[in-house]
Parts: sequence; structure tokens; C-alpha cells
Amino acid sequence: MKKYLTTAIPYVNGAPHIGHAMDYCLADVYARYQRLIGNDVRFQAGTDEHGNKIFQKARELNIPVEEYVTKNSLKFQDFIHKLGVEYTDFVRTTDEDHERRCQKIWTELLDHIYREKYEGWYCTGCERFVTNKEHEENNGVCPDHQKPYERLEEENYYFRVADFKDQIREAISSNEMVILPEFRKKEILKLLEDTPDVSISRPKSQLTWGVPVPGDESQVMYVWMDALSNYITVLGYPEEDISDWWPAAAQFVGKDILRFHAILWPAILLGLNLPLPKVLVSHGMVLSNGQKMSKSIGNVIDPVEVLNRYGTDAFRYFFIRHIDTFADSDFTYEKFDDAYNNELANDLGNLVQRLATLAHKNQIKIEEPDLQLMDGYRRLMDDFEFSKAFDSVWEEVQNLNRRIDEEKPWSLAKNGEVSKLEECMKGLILGVLNVNEMLKPFLPETTKKISEIFSGEIMPPEVPLFPKG
Ligand code: MSP
Repeated sequence: MKKYLTTAIPYVNGAPHIGHAMDYCLADVYARYQRLIGNDVRFQAGTDEHGNKIFQKARELNIPVEEYVTKNSLKFQDFIHKLGVEYTDFVRTTDEDHERRCQKIWTELLDHIYREKYEGWYCTGCERFVTNKEHEENNGVCPDHQKPYERLEEENYYFRVADFKDQIREAISSNEMVILPEFRKKEILKLLEDTPDVSISRPKSQLTWGVPVPGDESQVMYVWMDALSNYITVLGYPEEDISDWWPAAAQFVGKDILRFHAILWPAILLGLNLPLPKVLVSHGMVLSNGQKMSKSIGNVIDPVEVLNRYGTDAFRYFFIRHIDTFADSDFTYEKFDDAYNNELANDLGNLVQRLATLAHKNQIKIEEPDLQLMDGYRRLMDDFEFSKAFDSVWEEVQNLNRRIDEEKPWSLAKNGEVSKLEECMKGLILGVLNVNEMLKPFLPETTKKISEIFSGEIMPPEVPLFPKG
């Protein structure tokens, strides 16, 4: 089967921070799992390069905006590679192909677009207008960005979301478009009722950095209109038939931007007569020392520094197992070190080292094994419960360590009980290889090494899989 997976495209108004890892880690685990069970995967990633926020930042730094976005897009690409993410398509929203296709999408939606004067409150951090009610409730300051809302008075194009509300409500309620975690579904249904039509352009007098609105020199597209379209422009829409890949099997986004993906995006798709994505997976936030990361608090963690220090798999291990898939979770170096030393090095690293050493010494070999994924693991992976699936595999890692201690193969060797030793070792090695199979989506580099260690002449690794200190 063909499966198309997408990740949110980050704004390039700075270098990646540790929170940006979530979309990629989750989507890459799902992609590798799908490949493991025999599916064909197409996996999009990209960078969101238009809008006020980026334009203002480039200005502040006195760098031409084109140069600024290219520099930062490359930082994200480097980061994604270091995470071991196997994407198939990368889109930059300043790509010519993307811009042209976006304009065609706009033209296809014209029946649902109108022009009107608008006066309201805007948050540049969120890149969206807020309602008067929201403005009042938050005392005029955006709680996410700690900046006062700006009063804007503009003549803009509007997208009539109202045309699609019934269909969206029905699709969400019936799980035609599944929202995960389940409890967010109610929040979105409530929000849908209150969602006004969305302003989808900005006058060039206010902002020049965007995709030009076709047929109107005076306006550029609203950044979210341009950004959301990336999921299909990267497949070639509307110039190519995308039905092999669309609808997406899963779209991975943070909970802070679920509203755009669960309301505006479906409205755009329905306006284009395209099917809705099968699943929207909205993950929680990564906190740093219990707090939201912010430059002013000084608790922003550079993910590339962590990757360089600990390696790809240790990073993925922590972010997939110890950062809950759906709840907000905390990153601290103490927790990271603890997981690295006690779990990766002691549980997994030692298991492989002990077993491979014993097998090598006693010349145990294993034929092409028939590997199995546990049913519980499959169920959790199919349900996008990756941290729980990881836990279930780790229990097996710990069981195997216990089994070695109980079955004491070294005693069997010492007593010359050759056939018992062989049976015991083969059982343990098969156990490790089964675990290894299930770990493949999570730890691509380590599992490759483990497969090599236990194939043919079994050789213990010269350097521990997870060297300490
Ligand atoms: N450009 C938009 C997305 C457009 S998608 C068509 C955007 N960019 S972002 O850079 O602010 O965020 C990119 C992704 O990173 C989002 O999924 C967002 O939720 C995620 N995260 C940003 N900070 C995060 C944490 N601290 N923790 C977890 N995820 C976070 O929104």
C-alpha cells in the first residue's frame, strides 16, 4: 500500500530548536514502521519561508530576506539529516514550483473567496487575526508570544470557511478525518463553531514578502494559505495527478497549530474537491526545565549540540520514549544522561555485548531467523502510540537480560553441556533479533549494527554501542 506522511514546515526565522525535533522523530518512526511492514512511503518535509515574522527578522538583522531564508532553511535541512530522517520530498515555500502551484490553487478556490475591509487584532508570532473575545480574555497580549496584539485595518481577501463547516464537522465526528489524541477532537469541534471566515491575503503596502495573489498586484497571500498548500504542491498539485498519494495517511503537527490543520486546511481541500487526510497526529510540546523555551528565559536548547554530543539514536531514543507522544514533556540534560546511561548503555548495550561475546567464544551461529513483531507492539504503532510501543519493546530488552542471568549460559559452557548451551544461546539471540526488528523504526543506526553483529560469524562490537562518559 502507498502511504503519504507529512510534517509541519517550520518558520525559518531562526535556527531549529529542540521542539522542532518532534514532528520529524514521530513521522520518521511511522515512516520506517510502514516500510518495515511492507508499505511504500512518501514523506514530505520543508520550510515555511514567507510572512511578517521572517521578513521583520531579516530586516532587523539587515540581511536580504532571500539570503536569510536560504541560510536558515539549510540549517533545518542539516538538522533533519542529523536526526536520521528519511524524507523523500523537501519543499521550500519560496520554490518557484510551489509559488506557481499555490497561485493555481487560489484560482481554483475563487468561488469561496471574497474581498472585504477588516479591522482587527493580529499576532505576528502566531501569524493570525484573533477575535475581540480572545483579545479581551488575554488582556491584549498574546499568551504564546508575550507580545501585545497589533490593531490592523486592511482590505483583504477572505476565504469563506462557513461554506465547509458542516462537512468538516461531519468528517471529524465520524472519524473520516481522525484527530489524535482523541480529547483534542472536542476542542476542535467547539472551535469550529466559532471560526469566522479567514483573511487569506495581506496588502503589499503592509507586507511584500509572500506569494502574489493572482490577478491583484496589490496583495500577497496570507502565510498559512501558502504554507498549508505545501502538502499537495510538493506532490505536483494541481499540475499532476496526486491520487496515488493523496489523501495523506498521517499529518504530524504540534498541538499549537492543530487548529489550522483541522479547520482551515480541510476547508481548502474541500474547496478543491480533494479528500481529507486520514489522520492528524497532534503532539505535545517539549519543555525545557519545566518551562516553555524562550530566548528571554535563556532555556532554549540547541538540538544540534545534543545530536553532536550523544549521536542520532540516543537523541531519537529520548525524544520518542521519554517525551510522551501526546502530552507535554520536559527535556533536561539530567534526564537525558540518565536514560543514556541506565537504559541505552546498561540495558541494551550490555545485552548485546554479553550475548555476542558468549556466542563468539562458543562459536554459536544462527541461521536466517524468522522474525516476529509482537501483536501489542503492532497495535500501538498502528495507533501512533510510539512511546508506549517503545516501552513494550524495552520490557523485552529487560526480560532478555533477566533470562541471561537465570539461564546462565556461561555455566552451561563451563560444564560442557554443548547442546543445552546451543539451545539456550539460540533462544536468546533470536530474542535479541526480534527486539532489534521492533527497534528498527526508533534506532536506525544501532539496529543496523546489531544485525551485523549477529549475522554470520558473531562478533562482539569493538566499541560499546553506547559508550559512557
Ligand atoms: N510554519 C508553521 C507551520 C506550517 S505547517 C503548514 C509553524 N512553524 S513553527 O516553526 O512555529 O513550528 C513547526 C513545528 O514545530 C510545529 O509542529 C510546532 O508545533 C512544532 N514545535 C515548535 N515548538 C515546539 C515545542 N517546544 N515542542 C514541540 N513542538 C514544537 O508553526
